[in-house]
Amino acid sequence: MDESLDTVLVEFDDERGVGTLTMNRPDALNALNGQLRDDIIAGLEALEARNEDDEGVALRAVVLEGAGEKAFCAGADIGGFSDESAGGSSTRSHYDVIRDFPAPVIAKIDGYCLGGGLETALACDFRLASEGSTFGFPEVNLGILPGAGGVQYVSKLASPAVAKELAMTGEHISAARADEEGIVNHVYPDDEFEDEVDAFVTDLAGQAPLAIQGIKKSADMAVHSGLEEGLEYDYQLFKRLLETEDHAEGAAAFAEDREPEFEGK
Ligand code: CAA
Repeated sequence: MDESLDTVLVEFDDERGVGTLTMNRPDALNALNGQLRDDIIAGLEALEARNEDDEGVALRAVVLEGAGEKAFCAGADIGGFSDESAGGSSTRSHYDVIRDFPAPVIAKIDGYCLGGGLETALACDFRLASEGSTFGFPEVNLGILPGAGGVQYVSKLASPAVAKELAMTGEHISAARADEEGIVNHVYPDDEFEDEVDAFVTDLAGQAPLAIQGIKKSADMAVHSGLEEGLEYDYQLFKRLLETEDHAEGAAAFAEDREPEFEGK
């Protein structure tokens, strides 16, 4: 189902069930204008619809990346900043759509990951970065703050001190420092980046889809709610997953010493 929206390329690998969205404004370092925000949402919706399709492998994971050699995304498009359309025309932001997406979304970061670009990566379930990538919140240089929860998320992933440092100085940090602070999941050498990301995504796409969906919600709940609510959610989900065919398949595969074949049922 490969297709092109104005500013996003959409691909689907139907062997692994992996969708790829490429933010495609390389001349502006993939800065987020209204069109790009809308197209990320439209691309995710197209991939989700593919999930409901009966033919081929269902969607298991989505990779979000930036076109060109220099950037994942350099943040909001500064040119169209005060323009109302900069927020996109959807009632939901692309951040919300990524966060609520039923399959895991992996930010594949190779280059600048700044401002709203870093917030986009923070909305994803995983951040995998090449070692030459850099991260930062330059908003303070424009007299504003990261508007989509960047300070909140970095405070939780790293610490309030790190969030303040990034957002108050506007300085960029290296991928190694982002890794040390827990802002990214993995950093790979530039020449191994493609293969390592591919292997990570292939593994993830092979896991039991219903369990993956539930774990995504559980981890998000840990951020958004209290422990009691989170524990109750996990317990209820655990009971439901015990009844699934995927659980039976996983247990059978273990007993028979073979790889499981999960079907999301
Ligand atoms: N918006 C629009 N255009 C951008 C852009 C942005 N955020 N970032 C880069 N570009 C454009 C540049 O204007 C330039 O275009 P031209 O070739 O037409 O001049 C092109 O991308 C390449 O950029 P540079 O020549 O500046 O490349 P560089 O390697 O010298 O520097 C950079 C790269 C450090 C990322 C620098 O471009 C920069 O500082 N960009 C601004 C980053 C920024 O402030 N982002 C935060 C925006 S606010 C935000 O994100 C908050 C929110 O969501 C509301």
